Amino acid sequence: MLRRNIDVFEECKNKALLKFVIMLGELNCVKEMFLLELLEGEKEFILEQVSEILKNNRTERENLVPLLQKVQGVLGYLPEPAIEKIAKTIDIPAVDVFGLATFYNQLRLNPPGKYQIKVCMGTACHMIGGQIILESFERRLDIVEGETTPDRKCSLERVACVGCCAIAPVVVVNEFIEGSLTPTRVDGILLQFDGDDQEEEAGEQEQEQESEGGQDS
Ligand code: FES
Repeated sequence: MLRRNIDVFEECKNKALLKFVIMLGELNCVKEMFLLELLEGEKEFILEQVSEILKNNRTERENLVPLLQKVQGVLGYLPEPAIEKIAKTIDIPAVDVFGLATFYNQLRLNPPGKYQIKVCMGTACHMIGGQIILESFERRLDIVEGETTPDRKCSLERVACVGCCAIAPVVVVNEFIEGSLTPTRVDGILLQFDGDDQEEEAGEQEQEQESEGGQDS
């Protein structure tokens, strides 16, 4: 039964199913399927920051949500070592903390991408193709909402009305709003990210060359 449920989870990963797997207590499944690997040295940094937060705040169980919010405020998300450390300090199972983190939409288990894509799923956007736009991003990025691409370039989430219903369907990329979206425009947005990255890289190289030139003279 559990194997079947996990197969379903693999087919259509999303936050609701993630909650379900957590409910089953299958923490290892969650880690393998849903969480991104940490970068080199990231674990040490995380533990340092979390220790500092735990030292300066109350650590009773009823303070769990504010603690998670503080950690997310500093790290941008709730990485696995942070969750485990908090669980240990409060003396509750880590699976309970994962469960809570998936219950609150504002809490995230994966790092925000360099490009944070928020697809509006308010009523107006939903009626006029918001779901198609979300699925277009999911297909092109090969992730589902709530996830981040393995290179941490893009993260994808759904949000409630962002107040621009007249130009629905709407997506917010970092702080910029794009309206009247179509699947073709989704391709355009992703191509624009590549272009921006190339420009940024070229600028950095230019700066490096300039500073090297300055040192030589
Ligand atoms: S419903 Fe999407 S901007 Fe209002």
